Amino acid sequence: MSKLLQDNTETIELNSSVHSLPDQEFARDVTRGLSANRKYLSSKYFYDEKGDELFQQIMELDEYYLTRSEYSIFDKNKERILETFCADCKGFNLLEFGAGDGYKTKVLLRHFAEQNTNFHYSPIDISANSLEQLTNTLEIELPKLKVSGLRGEYFQVLEGLKSNQEERRIVLFLGSNIGNFTKQIAIQFLDQLHSALNPGDLVMIGFDLKKDPSKILGAYSDKSGVTSAFNLNLLSRINRELGGNFNLNNFIHSPYYDPVSGECRSYLISTIEQTVHIDDLNMQAHFKAWEAIHMEISTKFDLDGTDELATTTGFKIEANFFDDKKWFVDSVWSVK
Ligand code: AVI
Repeated sequence: MSKLLQDNTETIELNSSVHSLPDQEFARDVTRGLSANRKYLSSKYFYDEKGDELFQQIMELDEYYLTRSEYSIFDKNKERILETFCADCKGFNLLEFGAGDGYKTKVLLRHFAEQNTNFHYSPIDISANSLEQLTNTLEIELPKLKVSGLRGEYFQVLEGLKSNQEERRIVLFLGSNIGNFTKQIAIQFLDQLHSALNPGDLVMIGFDLKKDPSKILGAYSDKSGVTSAFNLNLLSRINRELGGNFNLNNFIHSPYYDPVSGECRSYLISTIEQTVHIDDLNMQAHFKAWEAIHMEISTKFDLDGTDELATTTGFKIEANFFDDKKWFVDSVWSVK
């Protein structure tokens, strides 16, 4: 594994074999998911170049309130957030899992820079494309900022974090990315994060909160059809990268929200009986009419749920920052 943090604005791969590995993993995961009794595909594969572009469009949709809610939290609370992060510390390393385009984080980065805070920013993302765009825009917008992008999967990056650093580390996991994990995987991720950090280190996690179910469903079934295209794009990716012959016209996108568990689940549903061939996997996936592929889970939380997650994984809640409507919370936790 290569060095994790470097003092420059280059994007670095975590592992030299990382180029070939995802392709094999993609093939393996698609085979497993489409041969299962209840078919599923992992939403982590949504983010190819087209998927990044579609997610960008989603964040600008009227219905997709999450990005605006978190942006307003940062805009209103940037002073208090900096105080929570570093009231009397010498400096810190700010690591961000799933950094994406950094639109919201830049509100904090700009403020920290204006206050002459001593910090180093390391955005981490699975998408090389997003990471490159982010580091390029940061070089222009905040030229003095010390940035090193890291490309890798969350769990792979966590492995590399285990070190005894002098400086405080603050890990950002924003945008309700945590909601895309099942509860079990979220606990596993936070457990590993906790054991990779030292006492005094902090994490700030963005959770989308439970609210009127029609608002939540609206965010995942926009009128313009971008979220549908975002889901269908994974079938196109299978066609392109694995030699599949999915006909996208034979599937519809259908989200479902369960207000008890807080899970918003997205499905692609086959509208006809059909067989799809995936040449590179040597497989045929048979679909009954109205059979579903589970594509994504986007969990919504209440504060009991976020508290429970923090305490079961050994963190202590230091502060909660809300937007005006209390639709979203950014929760700062310390390592006990
Ligand atoms: C990245 N993630 C937090 C988004 C979400 O809301 O679950 C992905 C997304 N899926 C459909 N729209 C947005």
